[in-house]
Amino acid sequence: MNTEAPVLRVGDLHAYYGKSHVLRGVTLEVRRREVVGLVGRNGSGRSTALKAIMGLVRPSSGRVVLDGRELAGRRPYEIARAGIAYVPEEREIFANLTVDENLRMGMQPCPEGVPAWTAAQMFDYFPRLKERRGTLAGRLSGGEQQMLTICRSLLGNPRVLLIDEPTEGLAPQIVAAVSECIADVHRQGVSVVLVEQKLTIALRVSTRMCVMGHGRVVREGTPQEIAGNEELLAQWLAV
Ligand SMILES: Nc1ncnc2c1ncn2[C@@H]1O[C@H](COP(=O)(O)OP(=O)(O)OP(=O)(O)O)[C@@H](O)[C@H]1O
Ligand SMILES: [Mg+2]
Repeated sequence: MNTEAPVLRVGDLHAYYGKSHVLRGVTLEVRRREVVGLVGRNGSGRSTALKAIMGLVRPSSGRVVLDGRELAGRRPYEIARAGIAYVPEEREIFANLTVDENLRMGMQPCPEGVPAWTAAQMFDYFPRLKERRGTLAGRLSGGEQQMLTICRSLLGNPRVLLIDEPTEGLAPQIVAAVSECIADVHRQGVSVVLVEQKLTIALRVSTRMCVMGHGRVVREGTPQEIAGNEELLAQWLAV
């Protein structure tokens, strides 16, 4: 059991798309060295939860507290500066810049108590990116762009990394590299919230899991507890 104080507390977060009430009171906590797997059926609100934490979708009410500091209602850039990084499902790269230039765009001064990442470490995670460091990012494969987006986010030295379906559409070998990277990142002291559609990967990489249904967290537990609960799997996770 991880007994460290939560780095990120999300409390009773609500959000709408127009009149549609999509987040209906999301509550979750993330401690240091945790990977919280946010799982659930399609449309359960996982991506919106990440966007609302990041300020990309404006929460109508609720709390997003990072290291004791209230961030709900702040602008995405302020939230990024406070120490939350977001890797969206759509890989965000600067297509006309090289891999190296993309990485440099992500670099930020390192606050205290957070691991300071270097480009060399990124290349250790993903040797393929090193081989392609002079290539324009727009020419990379989808998998390489995903690796680049993760690396660029890490170089901002975040306390918390929010990552939305990083393995979507990737070849098995790249899925393995990305999962290993996430598993290692949390050991280095970054907290991760991972939205992952593939339950086997979520179970393997997460240290704790939160199951979303109808716009809120309906259950939480260790990967073993979730995997062993047939009724929960059938009710909230089966397609
Ligand atoms: N930009 C948007 N405008 C209006 N409705 C949206 C928008 N984005 C998502 N929704 C709706 O909000 C609900 C939650 O969507 P969200 O993307 O958060 O789900 P999810 O759990 O990430 O699922 P998936 O990734 O499989 O779509 C869904 O009913 C979806 O149709
Ligand atoms: Mg989604």
